[in-house]
Amino acid sequence: MKIIKASFLTVLIFFVISCQPKKVGLQDNDYYKKVDSLMKLMTLQEKIGQTVMYSGGWSVTGPIISDNNISYIKNGDVGAMLNVYTAEGTRKLQEIAVNETRLGIPLLFGYDVIHGFKTIFPINLAAASSWDLDDIEKTSRIAADEASSSGIHWTFAPMLDVARDPRWGRISEGAGEDVFLTSKTAEAYVKGFQGDNLYDKTTILACAKHFVGYGAAQAGRDYHTVNMGEGELRNVYLPPFKAAIDAGVETFMTAFNELNGVPATANKFLYKEILRNEWKFNGFVVTDYTAINELIKHGFAKDAKEATKLAMNAGIDMDMMSSANRKYLSSLVKEGSLQENQVNEACRRVLLAKYKLGLFDNPYKYIDKDREKNTIYKREYLNAARHSAAISSVLLKNDARTLPLNKTQKIALIGPLANDKRHILGNWAAAGDRKGKAASVYDGFKEYLPKNRIFYAKGCEIDSKEKENFTKAISTANKADMIVLVLGEDYNMSGEAASRSSIKLPGNQTSLLKALRNKFPKKKIVLVLMNGRPLDLSEEELLTDAILEAWFPGTMGGLGIADVLFGTYNPSGKLPVTFPRNVGQIPIYYNMKNTGRPIPENNPKQDYKSNYLDIPNTPLYPFGHGLSYTKFTYSNVTLSSKSNTYSSSLEATVDIKNDGDYDGFEIAQLYIHDKVGSVTRPVKELKGFKKIFLKKGETKTITFTINAENLKFYNSNMEYTVEPGEFEIAIQGSSDFKFKNTFVLEDI
Ligand code: GLC
Repeated sequence: MKIIKASFLTVLIFFVISCQPKKVGLQDNDYYKKVDSLMKLMTLQEKIGQTVMYSGGWSVTGPIISDNNISYIKNGDVGAMLNVYTAEGTRKLQEIAVNETRLGIPLLFGYDVIHGFKTIFPINLAAASSWDLDDIEKTSRIAADEASSSGIHWTFAPMLDVARDPRWGRISEGAGEDVFLTSKTAEAYVKGFQGDNLYDKTTILACAKHFVGYGAAQAGRDYHTVNMGEGELRNVYLPPFKAAIDAGVETFMTAFNELNGVPATANKFLYKEILRNEWKFNGFVVTDYTAINELIKHGFAKDAKEATKLAMNAGIDMDMMSSANRKYLSSLVKEGSLQENQVNEACRRVLLAKYKLGLFDNPYKYIDKDREKNTIYKREYLNAARHSAAISSVLLKNDARTLPLNKTQKIALIGPLANDKRHILGNWAAAGDRKGKAASVYDGFKEYLPKNRIFYAKGCEIDSKEKENFTKAISTANKADMIVLVLGEDYNMSGEAASRSSIKLPGNQTSLLKALRNKFPKKKIVLVLMNGRPLDLSEEELLTDAILEAWFPGTMGGLGIADVLFGTYNPSGKLPVTFPRNVGQIPIYYNMKNTGRPIPENNPKQDYKSNYLDIPNTPLYPFGHGLSYTKFTYSNVTLSSKSNTYSSSLEATVDIKNDGDYDGFEIAQLYIHDKVGSVTRPVKELKGFKKIFLKKGETKTITFTINAENLKFYNSNMEYTVEPGEFEIAIQGSSDFKFKNTFVLEDI
């Protein structure tokens, strides 16, 4: 029987708090008054409790540690829990916090709702491939509705780490290599998760992570060392996080890596100087999982107590799973190593978030079994997941119009991922169902072809050297007019702690493709890929007629991919990350510097130039690349003037014609090149994009506006500035082009 020890004080607290005007979405200073009135009643230990987060262990997202006892909740020593969900599961813990602690302060429940909660959307690198900010916002809104209906208040997303190294498994979780695209997705995710009012029970706190530089881990090895100049940091890795703050993100998460010798989790420059002083961020910062204790392994703290002090001195508010704040903050304050006010600031930020969510008005507002049952897997949400899968896929190759598939044909559907319902969700699939809920590519084919015209064989495992199933695959292919091969990675081969030294298809999947090609030299082969990183497809490119990059497309992924393959959706995706020719080219990205000895285009073999002896400098597939079933022609790029000033702007327009036989979407991309700067500038920079729909034969004129603000960068004095001079400009459907137009920014 639940003993509700509602002490007089607790009743008084709630009376004081709840008798305030219950306006939806009070102004921050109203909340501050509430927070301050509560904090006056709190002991140091209770304030420390708000800075402590433990895992409920329902999902494993880091090393399992023993010191994780929910009895701490009863003592008021815990302010937040992660990896606990469902209305029933969160209610149990919330009741302990509200009814069995002295002040009854509600818990915050956080979870990695990265690309969906139960309805899983394509992985984030796939979402970035859609370049569809409206869809990113919409699917984040859906994820927030499902998660909040299941007791979740806070997601540890969006992940905003710019990444240029496909060996790094977490490249799957972000928006790829470009700072502008990543910054734009940051805004969409934050608006999707947080909506326009956190008091609304369908919205949840977002979390900009991992601050900062994590994607630049040496050699693509997860958690590895990061060194970079402040210019690179400010021009490439910081802007997406500033975009998240401008969009109103409520929380940040620290990165595991050190940056230039100082681990992010104790980095005053990042958190005091940049986040608080420069950016005026007033949300709270949570560490990544056990990251305070990891300061010892980093060789930055001699023991856990010192680590606790260093993190608090850097301005980190909440300790995820280190038990550091719970064990050491009190003694650090009592001995004078830390000020109580530092704890007060951290506690205040956490309580403010709880007030904004409305948890003090009703700690159980996100706990409603009926709402949970009626929200999760709504038909419209599953349909949205199907659409996202289609628009996130990227058509890399389509020789002789192999695609879309002809519905009168007999098709051999082969490969370890052709009938998969588990890997298709990708990594970080939250509470997604890997036991059969997902629609496989095979399921998708069954919507388009009668079963007697689909011939399925697994062919091989994802990561095995065995070839015993090749024979069956070949005999299966023999019955069909053409072959669709679905290959890729295990979903655990990307995401956290999933770096690969090779970026080729694992196992003997390429051998299976070779065996089929050798047996059927004339039969069309379509390769569909499910993977969490750019792969080295140099061999596959020569053996196939078409390649569709499907990434891990989520719960309805098989249906969305079939919609693309059979032409219901004309593919519009564009790569947010470069596909190298091989791992030796890494890091390779479109917005590189020119160097003093660039390869001359007319003589790539010239000596003493910046190139390799054995392969070209160009990638296999460049950033922004993506084909359509139709053909879009760009013409008549015109500028409203040949020059503009710091205070004026110019307009660049282009005509885009759909020259083919299919209606479709095109993602027009605006690039500039600052030809001369006080620091060298990238050879190209994405500065805008528009997704437009064109019926076959239709022409549209689109316009981009350029002003001095778009041209700013951090110079060698770390001034965010723009410099006069000549700029090249282009509007294209990929980053693979040569500039033809220029304008001058006048020094006035
Ligand atoms: C993990 C990840 C982080 C995640 C957190 C909670 O280690 O680095 O992205 O949000 O722990 O699961």
